[in-house]
Amino acid sequence: MRRVLITGANRGIGLALVRKFLNRGDQVFAGYRSMENSADLLDIAANNPGEVSAIPLDVANLTSILECVQLVTQQADRLDILVNNAAVHLGDEKLSMVKSDKLLRALQINAVGPVLVAQKFIDLLGAADQPLIINVSSEAGSVSKMEKFRGYGYYGSKAAENMYTRALAFDPETDGITVIAIHPGWVRTDMGGPEAPLSAADSAEGILKVIDALTPKDNGKFFTWEGREYPW
Ligand SMILES: NC(=O)c1ccc[n+]([C@@H]2O[C@H](COP(=O)([O-])OP(=O)(O)OC[C@H]3O[C@@H](n4cnc5c(N)ncnc54)[C@H](OP(=O)(O)O)[C@@H]3O)[C@@H](O)[C@H]2O)c1
Repeated sequence: MRRVLITGANRGIGLALVRKFLNRGDQVFAGYRSMENSADLLDIAANNPGEVSAIPLDVANLTSILECVQLVTQQADRLDILVNNAAVHLGDEKLSMVKSDKLLRALQINAVGPVLVAQKFIDLLGAADQPLIINVSSEAGSVSKMEKFRGYGYYGSKAAENMYTRALAFDPETDGITVIAIHPGWVRTDMGGPEAPLSAADSAEGILKVIDALTPKDNGKFFTWEGREYPW
């Protein structure tokens, strides 16, 4: 049984990951930011006590991250997998419409959040046998694939998340932890929209397969949900 923390686990890909890990018998700590949009997760937690714990977690709020560490520590002596999944897409405007508070908010949640959550969970991760940090990023964060204008806010924040993935992967303080970024596909969620070809369940299934196949040699790599390596 692995102990897994998933951020942004109340809907979309995060919630699908909760269901997949639960079905495999892993113990899931599922972060949610507010009660709003969290009814499904809270139901799952109520029906699976000891297997799924729904834990308040706003990755843009340091106090909230520290309180989450406390709650997880009360229930587990190690964390095998941290899935940094929470993110926002606040819309992307052209240069004349760009606003600094919106860019900074995207950076705070999508890029800084995963680093701070990793930092605060480092001791619990360090207590696991082969700990993993999985940053659910996006092809949108690939600098080399930005060949025409796509936007600033979400794209810049995901590129920063990708660089922070590499930083976490090669930081001497995370020695022994395998850190990767993964593009989950274009997925039918609130963020991906109704036209997306992939269900959240299928994306989560793919992400789990990639996680299962990881070895320490994969540290610092960027994968797609189908297990292909993706260019940074
Ligand atoms: N869907 C796609 O096609 C697609 C494509 C590429 C990459 N991705 C990536 O996949 C991941 C999941 O996306 P999704 O499609 O499932 O998105 P989603 O349906 O919009 O869900 C986003 C999740 O992040 C949470 N969140 C937002 N801000 C947060 C914060 N400050 N603290 C904690 N949680 C926060 C949301 O919680 P609330 O309910 O409280 O807002 C929600 O649970 C994201 O990293 C996204 O960038 C998605």
